[in-house]
Amino acid sequence: MAESTLDPHAQRFSLSALVELADSANNILDGLRSKMLEPHPRKRSPVYTGAQVAALCGIDPKQIPYLSKRDDLPSGSHEGNGKRRTFSLVETREWVAKLSKIPKRPENSRGATIAVVNFKGGSTKTTTAFNLAQGLTLRGRKVLLIDLDPQGSATTLTGMLPAAEVMEEHTVGPVTYPPLSEAPKDVRYAVQKTYWDGLDIIPAAPHLFNAEIFLPIHSRDPDIKWWDILNKAIDPLRDEYDVIIFDTAPALSYLAVNAVIASDGLLMPIPPDNLDYASSVAFWNLLSETLTALKRSRGYDKDFAFMRVLLSRVDSTSFASSIVKDWIIRTYGPYVLTVEIPRSQVTSVGAVQFGTVYDISRYEGAAKTYAKIRDAYDLFVEMMDQSVMSTVWNAGRTA
Ligand SMILES: Nc1ncnc2c1ncn2[C@@H]1O[C@H](COP(=O)(O)OP(=O)(O)OP(=O)(O)O)[C@@H](O)[C@H]1O
Ligand SMILES: [Mg+2]
Repeated sequence: MAESTLDPHAQRFSLSALVELADSANNILDGLRSKMLEPHPRKRSPVYTGAQVAALCGIDPKQIPYLSKRDDLPSGSHEGNGKRRTFSLVETREWVAKLSKIPKRPENSRGATIAVVNFKGGSTKTTTAFNLAQGLTLRGRKVLLIDLDPQGSATTLTGMLPAAEVMEEHTVGPVTYPPLSEAPKDVRYAVQKTYWDGLDIIPAAPHLFNAEIFLPIHSRDPDIKWWDILNKAIDPLRDEYDVIIFDTAPALSYLAVNAVIASDGLLMPIPPDNLDYASSVAFWNLLSETLTALKRSRGYDKDFAFMRVLLSRVDSTSFASSIVKDWIIRTYGPYVLTVEIPRSQVTSVGAVQFGTVYDISRYEGAAKTYAKIRDAYDLFVEMMDQSVMSTVWNAGRTA
């Protein structure tokens, strides 16, 4: 092997060298970008059988053939040489919109906002946020997912490449840039469609770290309500979407505090593991300190329509995990949802590896394994939808 000719003392890594490296790396990345972006679209939504469409609409599957002849319902397509009728996601959502008995958002109610939070990295925040978003669209909802994690994991799940494809102006970042009088007034500029009908996204990328530089600067100015910037910026979107979900970074960052304050409800997924449990406790401590300090120093008071804890990635065969599960239930009592998401190999196999359980509609060869996790998500999504309906849309209304 040839010996390296690089003399570590010959080339110091000065700031100008760093700037030069960043520039040239950007140029190379720009060149690669068009190649990386192919093939398009990188992700496709699944197709559904008549029985699945019937289940989503809450009707008898036997009704599908004659209902398919109705002019106002898409008739689907016939797969292969068999007679099997299948429906695209767009068609399926049209059926749900027309036939499902799930109550629609009342006309005078605004969309609900939910922040998915936890301190601990890898505590299934993104998986939970994305599945919730997809699951809600299958109940007829129009959903916006706002990625607030500069790692851009939720963005990646839509098939985009955050570092290559997502520019600063595609994120919520610019609404925090000084001077605020010149910053965009709302985040509508950043909304993008995704491969999934009914689900739009505001993506994230490493540039979003800039917001974590500017927000603390604003926090020193007594004339700026730094905690309310995101809340204000999403305001017009509350009429366009039934539900807006924030996926946050594993920290109580300035953006995460903004997301929490912009949210009607909080959702904390916790895998029953010692460390995840301990970080969940640390999160509530810090959040209570932060909100108490805001109340004292700036007179801002926040209350939430709901808070839910989701037991996720639960390994039912592990004794240790059943002990931690008990601690979680003892700590969070009535806030814990009565459904849990099992640890599942489905999430790390084949098509789901870079996606979610909802990205496939069946799992060849292991239908039961798929049904177990899919049913758990369906129930979780239904419970969250109920929370939105009862505590945000119909709050204070008599039935
Ligand atoms: N039910 C499940 N069974 C098995 N693995 C799962 C399950 N849910 C999520 N995972 C896996 O757990 C890992 C962490 O999940 P995820 O990225 O959603 O966590 P996160 O809290 O968003 O992480 P970060 O803090 O880095 O943003 C991922 O590899 C994901 O595929
Ligand atoms: Mg994440």
